[in-house]
Amino acid sequence: MNASATVDPQRSLGQIDRRIFGAFVEHLGRHIYDGIFEPGHPSADENGFRTDVIELVKELGVSTIRYPGGNFVSGYNWEDGVGPRDQRPERLDLAWHTTETNQVGLHEFADWCDAVGSDMMMAVNLGTRGVAEALALLEYCNVPNPTTRTRQRAANGHPDPFGIKMWCLGNEMDGPWQVGHRSAEDYAKIASQTAKAMKMLDNSLEFVACGSSSRAMPTFGKWEETVLEHAFDDLDFISCHAYYEEIDGDTQEFLTSAADMDLFIKQVVAVCDAAAAKHNSDKQIMISFDEWNVWYLTEWQKIEGKIPVDVWPTAPRLLEDSYNVKDAVVVGDLLITLLRHSDRVRSASLAQLVNVIAPIMTEPGGPTWRQTTFFPFSITSRLTAGESIPVDVECPTVFSRKANADVPTVNAVATLDEKGISLFVVNRSLTDAFDLGVDLSQLAGGRVLTLAEAHVIADEDLTAANTLTDPQRVAPEALEVAVGAMVSAQLPPVSWAAIRLTF
Ligand code: AHR
Repeated sequence: MNASATVDPQRSLGQIDRRIFGAFVEHLGRHIYDGIFEPGHPSADENGFRTDVIELVKELGVSTIRYPGGNFVSGYNWEDGVGPRDQRPERLDLAWHTTETNQVGLHEFADWCDAVGSDMMMAVNLGTRGVAEALALLEYCNVPNPTTRTRQRAANGHPDPFGIKMWCLGNEMDGPWQVGHRSAEDYAKIASQTAKAMKMLDNSLEFVACGSSSRAMPTFGKWEETVLEHAFDDLDFISCHAYYEEIDGDTQEFLTSAADMDLFIKQVVAVCDAAAAKHNSDKQIMISFDEWNVWYLTEWQKIEGKIPVDVWPTAPRLLEDSYNVKDAVVVGDLLITLLRHSDRVRSASLAQLVNVIAPIMTEPGGPTWRQTTFFPFSITSRLTAGESIPVDVECPTVFSRKANADVPTVNAVATLDEKGISLFVVNRSLTDAFDLGVDLSQLAGGRVLTLAEAHVIADEDLTAANTLTDPQRVAPEALEVAVGAMVSAQLPPVSWAAIRLTF
């Protein structure tokens, strides 16, 4: 089958914000403990961080890291995680029914972010806490002047402010599962008050309000409208969260997951722009897609309800999904979709990073390995620069139940920078290969294009995965590409591909 496209530079969405290649680290399961932090591990540095994990996070190409939750943040006291380690309290975490030892907190996490070369994006607790505690955290983190709190920061090893610019006002406050869950009106008020007060300390900050936990939430749309009605002036971003999984073996529907993300973004943008009109403002509220991934959530929900009430383990194996070829293709498609909306999606976080629904896995005392989903993220992050241009491919369509629409079987985006062009393409067909031809001549503007690299993720066995015992079963392979008047390649069924051409 044929699929063709002409890339129109007039459709450029402008410069891509590197913050869309963010990730998310939560105190959950073995993410922190036995994930990034394992003092006894042969690769551990002087701070107890696994350097093998640090190297993989660098290779993944993560720009910002959202911390410390997630559902965890809604019951968290940040003060428990600072000061001498032997004096830090152990606490029960209601979100994941575990015991938090607090051996890693703000300072350790900041040091780790330095080691991996990522910026911190901090969430405040608006579940069990409020304006005062958020202000105290901000003062501790960012204020250079000597105060009792900032002296405490210096005494704890960090005389210079951490300089955290992006702040999340709580987490998923629309979700009944959230500790301190609120109505949209109540949340909007506390989010507005918190952002206003924090800006009085530092008016250079950017704020992300909680949007909906998914497009399927019964309050979706109305929630965003209410939050923006009350807090429009205080916000820079509203969040979107979306997790996808294959349900009841319906692979075709799973492969169109990104159509739901596409619609989600369009609908939230519409609400943001309607709020701007109501406020007689030309301000564009941006989207922080600060949780997105494949997550076999229904498996977790089966287990969650059975956790005995008196069992509070420390760093148990939770949400350790193993990702296969289909999952990698869907993750690649979700990244294409974020890039196709890079004018309004200015921040995004793959949820999560290590062990917990993660591209990177570790074994205590043992090795680390890349899940299949690692590859589309690392390649897209590495090959993306400059501006983004959506590519509409002429091809057959496939029906997406979630989006309730016929959507293209081949989805694509191009990026353009001063050194060349990158093309990211996904084939959502279960059965058909596509001979893709893309006319990049207008984008190249007379410059000669040379193939630099091209990769494809595909496999006869769609369930193939990388595991502890077979860590290199799935990896990207070289894609054959012809560069002439058109850039041409064959895309196998259920595949994701990246092509880099230089001038
Ligand atoms: O990423 C796992 C969980 O998913 C997060 O803690 C929560 O915000 C979301 O429901």
